[in-house]
Amino acid sequence: MKKKYNKGQNLYKKTLKIIPGGVQLLSKRPEIFLPDQWPSYYKYAKGCEVMTYDNIKLYDFTNCSVGMCPLGYSNSSINKSVIDTIRKGNTSTLNSFLEYDCAKLFLKTHPWSDMVRFTKSGGEAVSVAIRIARSYTKKDKILFCGYHGWFDWYISANLKNSNKLNQHLLPGVSSSGIPKSLGDMTEPYEFNNVKDFKIKFKKYLKNLSCVVLEPARSYHCNKDFVKTIRNYCTKYNIPLIFDEITLGWHYTLGGYHKTLKVNPDLAVFSKATTNGFPLGVVIGKKKIMKSAADCFISSAYWTENIGYAAAIATINYMKKNNVAKTLRSKGKKIKNVWNEFGKKYNLPIEVLGIDSLPTFSFKTSNSDEIITYFTQEMLNEGFLAHGQCYPMISHTDSLIKKYKTACSKVFKKIAKIIKEDNSNFKKHLKGRVKFAKFKNPV
Ligand SMILES: Cc1ncc(COP(=O)(O)O)c(C=O)c1O
Repeated sequence: MKKKYNKGQNLYKKTLKIIPGGVQLLSKRPEIFLPDQWPSYYKYAKGCEVMTYDNIKLYDFTNCSVGMCPLGYSNSSINKSVIDTIRKGNTSTLNSFLEYDCAKLFLKTHPWSDMVRFTKSGGEAVSVAIRIARSYTKKDKILFCGYHGWFDWYISANLKNSNKLNQHLLPGVSSSGIPKSLGDMTEPYEFNNVKDFKIKFKKYLKNLSCVVLEPARSYHCNKDFVKTIRNYCTKYNIPLIFDEITLGWHYTLGGYHKTLKVNPDLAVFSKATTNGFPLGVVIGKKKIMKSAADCFISSAYWTENIGYAAAIATINYMKKNNVAKTLRSKGKKIKNVWNEFGKKYNLPIEVLGIDSLPTFSFKTSNSDEIITYFTQEMLNEGFLAHGQCYPMISHTDSLIKKYKTACSKVFKKIAKIIKEDNSNFKKHLKGRVKFAKFKNPV
């Protein structure tokens, strides 16, 4: 049978030969969606429509470029600010005054903070926050919870025990290339587990430089948990860093911590902050942030203007239009679709995620096979879809209705295979099952 996405698949095969791993972001590997069948490349994207390399238009109901564009792809008003900035010259020997304007906007949105530094990516922003915290405390060890990027400090957690990142990133993440001497530098603590946090905090306190927390993702953060962390960090003067790189702006304007009503000492943002243009942000209290002046933190492209222009336009748009509320409401509608058909077709479905970042899976040993089948069949219905859907404002009610109709059809087929084919989804897949673990694509 001729595949629809041959051009995209062939390009991916050629790319693998000259770009190791094939992609720049693990979360965009075709193998984590639909090996051998995924469209893989796009020509243009607007709103939530994506024109594939094979010239087939699809609606994107996945995590939508890992949550980078809550205002929709190629948002005209953000584009206009960026294009104006490019016309005026994106860089020069002199600094951009937009750095000041952008910093002021962050401080106004977060009155607990006094100072700001910028980077280009999220992982860089966390690493900068950590360097500042270490410079402040003159200590080394890091306690963390959540995903925080590709840098040595984070991946080193897996050096001595390759399972340590399983709950925070992907099972089986390789620590190849990380210096062995970093083996004692970082330690994860369990999300929403007060006891685990207390034990580790006390154990490592003597050399503890900071505590990093991604405050929510699949589950809401328990008040008791976050307040304990806040109290311990305050009592022992250890900087608390909230990583809002995926969360920030999706759930609450300015970040999820505003909902928690618990302030960190430093917070980091990226992704949604600019609706798809490169910028990482570190904000924090003066007594800690001013330690940045004592260390070397410097990079050429952190001075370019696009990120600042995009952030100012995006944040102002979000403020004016209460985007976080819209995203939560769209996420609820999407969760309702999965719950409704899960119930109707008696599927062992589990719907998780805070409302603005919904996910679903099947409580069966072959959940990955079923989700792969879901992706395959939704593609035939004209949707990019998998077990996550991070809403954008361009997911209109009428598009959610179309998605609902497609889900209804596909969930019905899933129920049929479970009942009549003894759950043998592999038989119905035209390619391999999606990769759920870290492994190199072949
Ligand atoms: C919570 C969190 N921290 C850090 C990062 C790393 O950001 P980047 O991929 O821009 O380096 C991510 C990216 O997904 C993230 O979700």
